[in-house]
Order: sequence, then C-alpha cells, then structure tokens
Amino acid sequence: MWDYTDKVMDHFSNPRNVGRIEDYDGIGEVGSLACGDALTLTFKLDAKGCIADAKFQTFGCASAIASSSVLTEIIKGMTLDEAQKVTNQQIADRLGGLPEQKMHCSVMGQEALEAAIANYRGKGNTLPGKHGKVVCTCFGVTDEEIRKVVQENALTTVEQVTNFCKAGGGCGGCKERIAELVEEVVGQNKLKASTLKAIRPAKLTNIHKIQLVQQTINEQIRPALRADGGDIELIDIEGDKVIVALRGMCAQCKMAEFTMRDVVEARLKEFVSDTLTVEELKD
Ligand code: FES
Repeated sequence: MWDYTDKVMDHFSNPRNVGRIEDYDGIGEVGSLACGDALTLTFKLDAKGCIADAKFQTFGCASAIASSSVLTEIIKGMTLDEAQKVTNQQIADRLGGLPEQKMHCSVMGQEALEAAIANYRGKGNTLPGKHGKVVCTCFGVTDEEIRKVVQENALTTVEQVTNFCKAGGGCGGCKERIAELVEEVVGQNKLKASTLKAIRPAKLTNIHKIQLVQQTINEQIRPALRADGGDIELIDIEGDKVIVALRGMCAQCKMAEFTMRDVVEARLKEFVSDTLTVEELKD
C-alpha cells in the first residue's frame, strides 16, 4: 500500500469535476489503456478567456485520479497563459506530495493540460514533446519528453526518469539511451552555470544585476528546490537586498532558514555578487 497523503485520499475518494464537457473549447488526451494510465481533460472558457470549467476522465491508480481531480481545481479561473505555466510539481504539491514512484501521474496531468491548450490554439491534440524521437517503445516516450521531465524536475538518475514518466519501466531496453539523455541535460546545466559565471561583468549595473539574479534563480536555484517539492519567486531587489518568497513544500519546511542561507544566498553570491543578501517575504 502506498503512503498517500490525506489530500490524495480525499481526491481519490471524492474526485472533483469528473466527466467530459461536450462543447469543450480544448481537449487533451494522453497516455493509453495499454500503458495502464490514460487521461482526457476538457475545458471551457468564459467570455474573458479564463477557464470557466474543466472536467476529466481517467483510467489509472489512486494518484492518477487524485492528480487529475486537483488539476481541474487548480486551473479553474486561470487564463490559458497562466494554466500553461502549471507544473507537475504544483499538482503534486497541492496534494501534499506524491510518492516518487507515482510522480508520473502528476506529469500525465500536466501533459493533458498542455495538449488541451495546444488543441484550443489549433495545434491539434498533441504534446509539444511528442515531436521527438521515441526512446521507450514500451510506453511511447520520446527523447524530448525525457529531456523536459529531467530539466523541469532536476532529475539525475534513470530510476527517477522511470518514476516521473514511466520510460524504462518495461523491458528496460531503453535504459542506456535514457542514461545518455540524463547525462546530456545535467551536462548542459553545468555548462550554463559556467557560462553564467563567465558573463558576469566586473561592475554590475542594476539591469545586469536583476537579469543575473533572475537567471540564477531559474537555472541554479529553482531546479534544486523543485526536486524537493518546493519553488521560489523573486519579489523585489532593493540595492543589494534580494527579496524572495519560498513556495510549495519549501514554504512550510523547518529547514527554510538553511535553504535561504545555504542555497539561495550562497548561489546568488557565487553567480551574481558576493555583496548580495537575501530576505524571505512571508505571506
Ligand atoms: S523500451 Fe523502454 S522499457 Fe521497454
């Protein structure tokens, strides 16, 4: 038996917004019954272009049902641009977390949403990532999908990739290629880090400082926090003081003070300027 949170069990036992909107504006269909998980998401927009209604039909386990259910709650009221930014980590966070072996359910929700938005925008009912080359034939996962899931969730092992998108979880014949893709993305991230240091000018203007702080947060801090179920938002910069807010699991974490000092402030000092200090804005 999986160690599910109360929120997962609540959404599993009482799923919200089950069904299909017949006169939908967008529809996303991902997964397949043969692979054990399938999800159809439909949404309807209001006159202002916000998501007025969203419904889902899924075939899958408790976490697939809970992820789909909470996703419909998350996106109601959002514009499509806002909905497009919803990550699989946010879906998992709203459920109080998912076992790592079940993270692929949150990824399936995010993919269905992407596909539904693409469908509304006239790009068919396909995922952007589906344009890649199929790496895992057992589960129909492409190299682009694997790169995306590794990048967005700061993954470092083949086992994690399997947990997040199922690739590698069947015959195992694709594991070598998955390992190469993981290595490629991790290598590119290291290169970005060295480029970031190399482009740092001797004297920072305010505009340079803001750009470098945002770039460092995006590339060097956020992936590490997301790997632990959290996130970070840049609120403001006043002189050498960077004001940020921790989100998701990081916001409630007892180690937040350590994260702010040893991760956020340390990396901003390393990649932007050693005169920077960081302050956390609490809600
Ligand atoms: S080809 Fe990926 S698990 Fe079989």
